[in-house]
Amino acid sequence: MPVVAIDGPAGTGKSSVARLLADRVRAQYLDTGAMYRAATLAVLRAGVAPDSDEVARVVAASDIRLSTDSDGATLVMLDGEDVSEEIRTEAVTGSVSAVSANAEVRVRLVDLQRTHADQTLLVVEGRDIGTVVFPAAALKIYLTATPQARAERRHRQNIAAGRESILDEVLDSVNRRDHLDSTREASPLRPADDAVHVDTSDMTLDQVLDTLTELVETRIGGQ
Ligand code: DC
Repeated sequence: MPVVAIDGPAGTGKSSVARLLADRVRAQYLDTGAMYRAATLAVLRAGVAPDSDEVARVVAASDIRLSTDSDGATLVMLDGEDVSEEIRTEAVTGSVSAVSANAEVRVRLVDLQRTHADQTLLVVEGRDIGTVVFPAAALKIYLTATPQARAERRHRQNIAAGRESILDEVLDSVNRRDHLDSTREASPLRPADDAVHVDTSDMTLDQVLDTLTELVETRIGGQ
């Protein structure tokens, strides 16, 4: 079960590139951030503070599932309901770092993530895939980009999606989330020792995709 682990902070183009890479190399794709987002939505719906101890109980009682629709898009189900869009709202984005800092939540979601590994090639994106979830992954990639480049990308995505967006505020939010994700005690965001670093600041999506495809082909070979 070869695994390609793609880690890195938000705004590096990680999600787009991981999805396209999976398509190109005919692999399954797993978006672990979507699981933390679904857990956060469950917490918000339960009216529980995202940094309280109650969080683990709420997540343990929730049924979170990821599946793929006929177009290859990830469907995120929470207690049988399709929440694929709702997990991308600002309310969820603003609380997801607090929920994902909970060690019990992480244990539960990591278990769930590991059930997705089978006989097929699997591209998994997240923050701790190469370090914790799949430490024996055949290929580990760590995507980086300057905070400015990452904020500009998020800003453009917001505008394209018709969401209100102010670049300075996006930059603040990018910096705040990075700080929380990389300083938390439970599985902080950090590159695995054997990860290949790719700085995407001055690269187009196609260039990143080509670089990663070549890495998969040379390290893992044609599937
Ligand atoms: O990739 P994303 O922005 O959808 O991730 C949402 C949050 O989930 C992010 O702030 C950090 C957290 N996360 C995590 O802690 N571990 C992962 N493997 C994936 C995401």
